[in-house]
Amino acid sequence: MSEFDAKARDWDKNQLYIERSEVVANAIQGMIPLHKNMKALEYGSGTALLSFALKDQFAEITLMDSSRGMTEVTQEKIAAQHIRKMKPLFFDLEHENYTAKFDIIYNQMVMHHVNDVDTMLTKFFSLLNPGGYIALVDLYSEDGSFHGEGFNGHLGFDVELLSDKLKEAGFRKVEHQQCFTIERKDEDGRINGYPLFLLTACKPK
Ligand SMILES: C[S@@+](CC[C@H](N)C(=O)[O-])C[C@H]1O[C@@H](n2cnc3c(N)ncnc32)[C@H](O)[C@@H]1O
Repeated sequence: MSEFDAKARDWDKNQLYIERSEVVANAIQGMIPLHKNMKALEYGSGTALLSFALKDQFAEITLMDSSRGMTEVTQEKIAAQHIRKMKPLFFDLEHENYTAKFDIIYNQMVMHHVNDVDTMLTKFFSLLNPGGYIALVDLYSEDGSFHGEGFNGHLGFDVELLSDKLKEAGFRKVEHQQCFTIERKDEDGRINGYPLFLLTACKPK
């Protein structure tokens, strides 16, 4: 069982995750001209909190995640609400290739878990239709305290360097803004803030 399989059943009990998804959904709508004909892909969708907040904006949403536990919880939520246009997909895009095309790809708190970010951005580019959009939400560079010891992923991102990587992958109209701050109390009772960026870009037509 993976770390995320173990967390899946209780994921939606965290009020912060719900609030973050709502704020991020509004920020995405503020930065990207969404329309109801769009086919969307949420990569690393977890329990699809972000996509539930965005579902009325799109024609169809594929919810891709490499955690079977997350995918099962997502499937149950969708079935309970009789939603036909949201499609969970248990799939590991880091290690496999996917061939469908989308008009928008978005993700929240996933890129810091991706080993080879350059290759993933290239995969996102090839999965988009011309004129399609990408939206990445993740941590700005942090000191490692967010996950603590033993974490092997990225300690957030320098958003300017990540913007350059998007341009190298072929994206244009690269823009970013801070969209949320995660607040956590440390052992001494001090509040630490971890700001998140929303980075958007477009595949040329
Ligand atoms: C921190 S959680 C965020 C979940 C969700 N985006 C949210 O904000 O509530 C990271 C998610 O990315 C997924 N993930 C990590 N690596 C992945 C990969 N290579 N392919 C697909 N999903 C992946 C994990 O299974 C997990 O559900």
